[in-house]
Amino acid sequence: MELKRAVLVSALLCLALSRGALSQRAPIITIETPAPAPAPRHVDLAELLSLAGPYGTFLDYLTKTDVIKTFQSQANDTEEQGGHGITVFAPQDSAFAAVDSAALSNLTADRLRSLMLHHAAPKYYPLSVFSALAASSTPVSMFAYSVNVTDKAGKTGVVSGWAAAKLVSSVYSTRPVAVYALDRVLLPKEIFPTAPEVAPVPVPAPAPVPGKAMDAAPGAGAKDNAGGKSSSSRVGTGRLLLGSLVLMVSGVLV
Ligand SMILES: *[C@@H]1O[C@H](CO)[C@@H](O)[C@H](O)[C@H]1NC(C)=O
Ligand SMILES: *[C@@H]1O[C@H](CO)[C@@H](O)[C@H](O)[C@H]1NC(C)=O
Ligand SMILES: *[C@@H]1O[C@H](CO)[C@@H](O)[C@H](O)[C@H]1NC(C)=O
Repeated sequence: MELKRAVLVSALLCLALSRGALSQRAPIITIETPAPAPAPRHVDLAELLSLAGPYGTFLDYLTKTDVIKTFQSQANDTEEQGGHGITVFAPQDSAFAAVDSAALSNLTADRLRSLMLHHAAPKYYPLSVFSALAASSTPVSMFAYSVNVTDKAGKTGVVSGWAAAKLVSSVYSTRPVAVYALDRVLLPKEIFPTAPEVAPVPVPAPAPVPGKAMDAAPGAGAKDNAGGKSSSSRVGTGRLLLGSLVLMVSGVLV
């Protein structure tokens, strides 16, 4: 009788566990963690942006303007093929929400495309080079136009025309592909002759105190490779859960 109950309990636990695992983990993530291969892993930018968090608006614009293809083909171009890699500056959804929607919907298809091209550099920049880029005060060329990089108290900023964006986190950075999150949409003067209306950053930002606003932002000092780390820690948690459930089940059986 006791044994029967134990078997039933463990069967239920197994069922719950497998259902939990199925619903929690997207199949893509399983594919993304293969045995370590010698060749650099192919990075699918659209997949990365859709899995990584609040970049849906940016991804929609990239898809709509076809700029995602330009970025992806640059990301595909390995160093052996003479490629320099890519650094994407991805404004978070809140950054797009803050820009007067008319300012964006007013843009011609060509200008919208240029605006998207302005959000990536045709070169891989690891986080470690940003302070030197800021110190050199040479503009950084993007696929369209250029930006200035700033570095105040170790906080990296990207300045373009009307926008002074902060680099809030490293989404992914493994040569030849880097993706960094911005708290602002870049607003180059080449596209916006006059300043569009932009709402203040909604989060607890102590208004326009330069260099201060980002102090509280999490992940600002994120290391290169943050993308890989976070997915492996997710897998680690799964294993831990599995381990403790197996322990519980065997405890019931004993
Ligand atoms: C990038 O490479 C992947 C995998 O090799 C391929 O499926 C995709 O079509 C390529 N995309 C572009 C835009 O070159
Ligand atoms: C949108 O375009 C119209 C017509 O060109 C112009 O009058 C208006 O100021 C523009 N609005 C914004 C927010 O740029
Ligand atoms: C970068 O800085 C230079 C010098 O201060 C300035 O002239 C230029 O307009 C800035 N570029 C951008 C994109 O803001």
